[in-house]
Amino acid sequence: MVIREIKEADLDAIADIEVAAFSRPLTRDDLVSLYQKPVFRGFLLAPDDGLPACYALFLTAGGAADLVSTATAAHARRRGYAMRLLRESLYRLAVDAVTLEVAVDNAGALALYAGLGFDEVGRRPDYYRRPGGRVDALILRWRPVPQGSA
Ligand SMILES: CC(C)(COP(=O)(O)OP(=O)(O)OC[C@H]1O[C@@H](n2cnc3c(N)ncnc32)[C@H](O)[C@@H]1OP(=O)(O)O)[C@@H](O)C(=O)NCCC(=O)NCCS
Repeated sequence: MVIREIKEADLDAIADIEVAAFSRPLTRDDLVSLYQKPVFRGFLLAPDDGLPACYALFLTAGGAADLVSTATAAHARRRGYAMRLLRESLYRLAVDAVTLEVAVDNAGALALYAGLGFDEVGRRPDYYRRPGGRVDALILRWRPVPQGSA
């Protein structure tokens, strides 16, 4: 298993996972423009050093980062890949805070982020469109545990 920084050559495979994972996915063009930003950091996990099974895309600013998107390919879910990748990403980013938005009805992602130590810091009402209406976005934040604490 490999966890490494995303390269431009990985963007096609990431676009494929995006399309399958989200109703409003980032397109390949979106991914290219994200990748070209100097503040972009992205990581992927490849089980056999081949195609990515999971990725995490961040934009950094000063000592903080936003998680722009993360997903695991449908065939590779519930194997601990997102947990491992995000934990390693948080370590490698070495920032003071990471923030993200997640839909209140995304129970799997909420459980994942809770397991990583993210806390709710805000809410955007009716932020995501759903077939039956709209749902709120929660804003979650992670901070590293201060050194020396238990
Ligand atoms: C959310 C997502 C990234 C999780 O990826 P994953 O690689 O399957 O997650 P992991 O196997 O690392 O799961 C780690 C923990 O998160 C929680 N979790 C993950 N998926 C879950 C699900 N569908 N239901 C409940 N809990 C879940 C569990 O606590 C899990 O630990 P466990 O398997 O020991 O119970 C994946 O389901 C996905 O790509 N979803 C679609 C895209 C998405 O919603 N991205 C997040 C947008 S904010």
